[in-house]
Amino acid sequence: MKEYLIYLANAHPNFRKAELESLATLNNVRVDLSSHDESSPFMIVQLEDDDAARKLVDRAVLTRGIYELWGKGNTLEELHSDVKTRYKALREPYMNSTFKFQVLDFQGARKSKRRHLQIIDSFMYLQFKGKVSLENPQQIFTILQTYTIDKDLCPRKEPDYCWFGRQVHLSARSRGVVDEYEIAKRPYYGTTTFESELSLVTCNLALVQKGQLVLDPFVGTGSFLLASGYFGGYTYGSDIDFLALKGGKPEQKCIKRLKDNFEHYGTENKFGDVLCMDFTNNALRKNLKIDTIICDPPYGIREGLRVCGTNDIASAELTMNKIICGEKAFLRKDYVPPKKTCSLDFMLDDLLKFANERLPIGGRLCFWMPAADNEDIPTLIPQHEGLELIHILVQHFNMWSRRLLVYVKRDSSYQGITVTRDQRKHKNNFREQYFNRFK
Ligand SMILES: C[S@@+](CC[C@H](N)C(=O)[O-])C[C@H]1O[C@@H](n2cnc3c(N)ncnc32)[C@H](O)[C@@H]1O
Repeated sequence: MKEYLIYLANAHPNFRKAELESLATLNNVRVDLSSHDESSPFMIVQLEDDDAARKLVDRAVLTRGIYELWGKGNTLEELHSDVKTRYKALREPYMNSTFKFQVLDFQGARKSKRRHLQIIDSFMYLQFKGKVSLENPQQIFTILQTYTIDKDLCPRKEPDYCWFGRQVHLSARSRGVVDEYEIAKRPYYGTTTFESELSLVTCNLALVQKGQLVLDPFVGTGSFLLASGYFGGYTYGSDIDFLALKGGKPEQKCIKRLKDNFEHYGTENKFGDVLCMDFTNNALRKNLKIDTIICDPPYGIREGLRVCGTNDIASAELTMNKIICGEKAFLRKDYVPPKKTCSLDFMLDDLLKFANERLPIGGRLCFWMPAADNEDIPTLIPQHEGLELIHILVQHFNMWSRRLLVYVKRDSSYQGITVTRDQRKHKNNFREQYFNRFK
């Protein structure tokens, strides 16, 4: 095993380890991530070789890159003493490669070019024989330094810690995927569109893979499907709201819709289709296997939390008996079924049951669930005996938060727990709590 330094993103620190664990599972990479510290974007891990390192970070969104570790220390002096004990064995394969050096500072003050060159020159003793190439080097050697921000919000002059290493691979984040998929850059988006960074992270936690079938049963404007398409999944979705799928009323000019987003990113061959359907009255055939289910179910705040049906029995009976042109009205193509409101809890129980029936062993269900911040969290989380809840990852907002729940379908020997909506009753009415300002 060799030592590698992972440089993580300074964003969503509580999601970073879970993302890397999922990528390790997906790529069959053996790695111990227990040294991860949410307060630092640097982490040292042991890996088999460069290939494992590449696989681990290639599609990561909350990681920047990975470096073969050549040394570390509290100061530049300490770093040099460590590098000097290791470099002779490490440098051999790269003696004649073209190369360049770079300095990456985390939270450091802007430094002059002269200071950077001084730091780089201090590594002269490595004595590489290859040519320097700033444009297209075969190897990039990196000095990474982290600084503390003082009480006056200025970074300290001297770094807290330094590392030196050979760059092995940069992640999807460093290749620009988060910016590329930013909401404002998509042709089609709406009020419920999910941000690009966490959509992509959700797909990594869901283990979306090339050629596998991904379903978002509450697809809206399709953020999760778009992100899944980027990772190579074949995507399908459904939504009760016809206008969300169509992107607007037919008479509106220049309507943009979900498929346009896929065409914009050149992933149209990853877009299967979308279906207008009430998830709780599911039309998908029972034996249809779905590899991955990802969604952001309706919270009932910006969008309706509705199902087909009515509480008005009298009008329902009238509708049942209505005949148009000799045909029962409710069997006609143009029939629009009535809708009634429903609770999120009801919907989530259906979602877990559906996932348990459709996912293959090892398949994942990932969904976002809103909650008030002052609630007793464990009793809020729905559970199904056939699905193991492996991650609860919280994103905080003002007064409320949403959790990304990650479940894995287990085989029949697994005996999980069941937490149904009756057990969660009165604790979980997010809509009511939201409009009462969480009092
Ligand atoms: C939070 S939004 C999803 C947003 C989506 N992730 C996006 O990026 O646009 C929830 C969606 O669920 C849909 N919905 C509400 N009730 C539904 C039901 N019973 N069956 C299917 N979809 C439903 C809403 O129309 C809404 O588009």
